Amino acid sequence: MKYKLRFEILTRFLMIIQSLLTSILLLCPAFLRRDKKRLKDITSDYYNTMQVVETIAELQKLLVNYKNENQTVGFVPTMGALHQGHLSLVKQAAQSSDVVVVSIFVNPTQFNNAKDLERYPRDLQTDLNALSTVKCDIVFAPDVNEVYPEKDTRTFDFGNLETVMEGKFRPGHFNGVAQVVSRLFEMVRPDKAYFGLKDFQQLAVICAMTKQLQLPVEIMPCEIVREEDGLAMSSRNMLLSDAQRKNAPLIASTLFESCNFVADTSVEGVKNKVIEAINANKELEVEYFEIVDGFTLQPVDKWDESEYIVACIAVFAGEIRLIDNVTYKKRDHEC
Ligand code: PAJ
Repeated sequence: MKYKLRFEILTRFLMIIQSLLTSILLLCPAFLRRDKKRLKDITSDYYNTMQVVETIAELQKLLVNYKNENQTVGFVPTMGALHQGHLSLVKQAAQSSDVVVVSIFVNPTQFNNAKDLERYPRDLQTDLNALSTVKCDIVFAPDVNEVYPEKDTRTFDFGNLETVMEGKFRPGHFNGVAQVVSRLFEMVRPDKAYFGLKDFQQLAVICAMTKQLQLPVEIMPCEIVREEDGLAMSSRNMLLSDAQRKNAPLIASTLFESCNFVADTSVEGVKNKVIEAINANKELEVEYFEIVDGFTLQPVDKWDESEYIVACIAVFAGEIRLIDNVTYKKRDHEC
C-alpha cells in the first residue's frame, strides 16, 4: 500500500516534469522566431501570417513558394513611418494581387540633404503594428549594406521629367529613387507595384524608368490620402511644430480653392494668387508652384495647351518640406 502510494506520487511527478519540458520545447522556437522578427506587440488578425525578413535570400525563399503556385505579387515600396496614405496603397495591392510585399527602407541615395536623412522618422515596430492591421504578407526591411553592398554608380537620364520641380530643387533625388526602386524591383520581381499620386513627379519618373529598363511590372497609381483638415498625409508631418501643423492645411485649401479660379483666370494669374495666399502665412514659404502637363511635367502657359493639367507645389514649414498637388484638368493617369 505504502509502496503503491509512493509509486503513484512519483509517476505523477514525472508526468508533470514531462509536460513542462514539452511546453518549453514547443514554445522556445516560437519565441526565438518572434524575437528574430522583432514582432512584439502585434495583436491583429493578420499577425500570424505576416512575415518579416531582412535579407534578399530570406525574401526570395518566401517568394519562390508563392511564384511556384502562380500567385501574383503586389509590391509597395516605402521608407517607413507609415500612415494611412501608405496603408491605402497596401490595401489596393491586396485587392488586385495575391501576395502583398511591403518594403521599408530609408534610401540614403535619394536624400540630397544630410539633415533631412538624419531626422527622417524611423520606428520599425510601430510600422509593423500598422501593417498588421491590413493584409500584408511579407515585410522586407533590409539594412543599407543589403541594398547597396557596393556603391551604386548608375546614372539615369529622365530628360525634361527631372529638370523641373522636385528634380530642379532636389538635384540627384530622382536618380537615387530610380537606383533603389530598380534594385527593389529586381529583388521582389513584382507583377504590380503601387505608388501614390501625392509624389506626382516620382510616379512619372518610375514609369519612365520601368519603360527604359523594360521591366515586366505594371505601375499602379493610387489617389492622395489626406488628413481630415485636408493636409496630404506625409511621414514628415510628424516633424512639424504645433504652429506649423496648425497652418499647414492652408496648402491644400489654397490648392482646392484655386480650382475655382481656373475658369476665369489666366495660368499666370492662378500661379500668383496661390503663391501669395500661402506666403501670406508666416509659418509657410512656397519653394515652387508649377502648373504642368500631367504627362510631360512641363509648365503650361494656357489652359487649352493640354488635356491633363496638374498643379504641383513644395512648401517649407520651417525646415520641413511638404509637397502636394491638385488636378485641374483630368485624364486618367496612364503609365
Ligand atoms: P515614402 O515617402 O515612404 O512613400 C511610399 C509610397 O507612399 C509612395 O508611393 C508615396 O507616393 C505614397 N504616399 C505617401 N504619402 C501618401 C499619401 N498621402 N497618399 C497616397 N500615397 C502616399 O516615396 C517614397 O517613400 C520613396 O521615394 C520610395 C518610392 C519608397 C523609394 O525610396
